[in-house]
Amino acid sequence: MGSVDDTARLRLLNDLGRAFAARIEIDRLVPFVIRPSREVLNAGGASVLLLDDERQEFYFPYVAEDEAEVAEALLALRFPADRGIAGVVLETGRPLRVDDAQRDARFYGGVDERTGIVTRNVLAAPLASHHGTIGVLQVINHQGPGPFSDDDLALLEALAGSVAIALENARLYAQVKASAERLQTEVGALRRDVARSQLFSEIVGTGDAMADVFRLMESAAAAPIAVLVEGETGTGKELVARMVHRASPRAEASFLAVNCAALPETLLESELFGHKRGAFTGAVQDRRGLFEAADGGTIFLDEIGEMPASMQPKLLRVLQEGEVTPLGETRPRKVDVRLVSATNRDLEAAMKEGAFREDLYYRVAAFPIRLPPLRERREDIPLLVDRLLGVGRSRQKKDVPGIDAAALECLTRFDWPGNVRELQNEIERAIALAHAGELITCQHLSPKLLPRDGSVMPAVEGAVMAVVGAKTSSGARTSLRQARTAFEVRFIGEVLRQQNGNVSRAAEALGLSRVALQKKMKEHGLRDL
Ligand SMILES: Nc1ncnc2c1ncn2[C@@H]1O[C@H](COP(=O)(O)OP(=O)(O)OP(=O)(O)O)[C@@H](O)[C@H]1O
Ligand SMILES: [Mg+2]
Repeated sequence: MGSVDDTARLRLLNDLGRAFAARIEIDRLVPFVIRPSREVLNAGGASVLLLDDERQEFYFPYVAEDEAEVAEALLALRFPADRGIAGVVLETGRPLRVDDAQRDARFYGGVDERTGIVTRNVLAAPLASHHGTIGVLQVINHQGPGPFSDDDLALLEALAGSVAIALENARLYAQVKASAERLQTEVGALRRDVARSQLFSEIVGTGDAMADVFRLMESAAAAPIAVLVEGETGTGKELVARMVHRASPRAEASFLAVNCAALPETLLESELFGHKRGAFTGAVQDRRGLFEAADGGTIFLDEIGEMPASMQPKLLRVLQEGEVTPLGETRPRKVDVRLVSATNRDLEAAMKEGAFREDLYYRVAAFPIRLPPLRERREDIPLLVDRLLGVGRSRQKKDVPGIDAAALECLTRFDWPGNVRELQNEIERAIALAHAGELITCQHLSPKLLPRDGSVMPAVEGAVMAVVGAKTSSGARTSLRQARTAFEVRFIGEVLRQQNGNVSRAAEALGLSRVALQKKMKEHGLRDL
């Protein structure tokens, strides 16, 4: 063995050692090992065999084979960990040199069979990590005269030592990376949850219907895309528009709202785009339009479906060119405004009927968010009631502690044509009607909310509260006995009505005998109905 050779080998070891420190992914590491091993040892082939601990099998994690078929066969190949030269090395933990493989009893011919390679001689060294031997580094078929030498074996052993450590590091790295990625995903999800709960906390919504809305709001907030909020009256369109702005990078700039239905045409135009002094009668001085005032922020066009036809091309121009021309001016001014619009009309239908320009529709409705009506998300009503009670209590400065079950039941069942706003009005009204310290009951609700099917529970709850209420309003003391009697009278009366005056059935419903009920009816002066 010449000294030039030795120097080359030392350099290789050195280079590999350094490269291993940087090269940390298994699938990149293995090919990096195989090629130089084959070259420096002048071998016909080199391979890394890894141990599958669970199945106690060897497999090839990577194959340096030019022939696709052979490569495929090797990649699919697995053999028992106690077979072949590799098996011996694994078991003993010592390197092994075999000069005539075909005549060696320990040799496993399975690999040759599958690949068509004829293995003549072999060098194999254990990949020894801190956790034991994890595989075998192997070269076959010395290309020079004669088999491999002991020097070659020593070199392979040295190589295998650093390869094993590098592999172990790669494995640890992969684990750490996987858990870091998992954490990253979790953190991302948590962060989104927090953002959602903080930013959108003013909006009550717990069911799937509102979950979709929140998701859309989040995406809308992130991009400067034009948002169209669609929904029936009182579903929270303006609230959503404000929250999208507040969650967007424009949150620091202004959010300016204008109702397109509320202003006559010229005023709307000057409101939006501004005017020069003298542009029309009454324009006594220059005025900046909302688009300019909202520069860098968001403009909210409420009831955009009501925008007059003559205004639509002007709005389209602003959206297309990003510039406004105030009335009476000739030179346009650049503006950077995000548009959020709202409509309770079917804007798409309006467009199809020709009432709304098609090109404007697609500009305005780039990102639609549809708000479900309250009757499609009744699950949110109790929470909304709670929230609205809190708001109403502080607005009216009246301590109404809550609402009873029957009244809540009525609120939840009702169809709410006016949605959240109507619910809000109903709660405000109930707070106004209730006495301080008193729960809201069916008595305090509008008659339209009371069930027509005469179901007993709300009536009974109402009766209880009426008795308690009577005490509070009159200021007179009602003893529990009196209250109980009053309740009994109302309750029995209600059940009798339910049963159309049939005493037997009423008694059954009340859990009394017929005789006992008749006695009570007599006592309270209740007549058969
Ligand atoms: N999901 C909700 N959570 C809490 N409050 C809500 C919700 N939706 C609506 N509101 C409240 O209901 C009222 C009506 O909401 P908003 O004005 O945003 O509705 P709108 O869809 O713009 O109605 P309109 O079509 O009549 O203009 C507001 O006081 C709003 O704060
Ligand atoms: Mg509105």
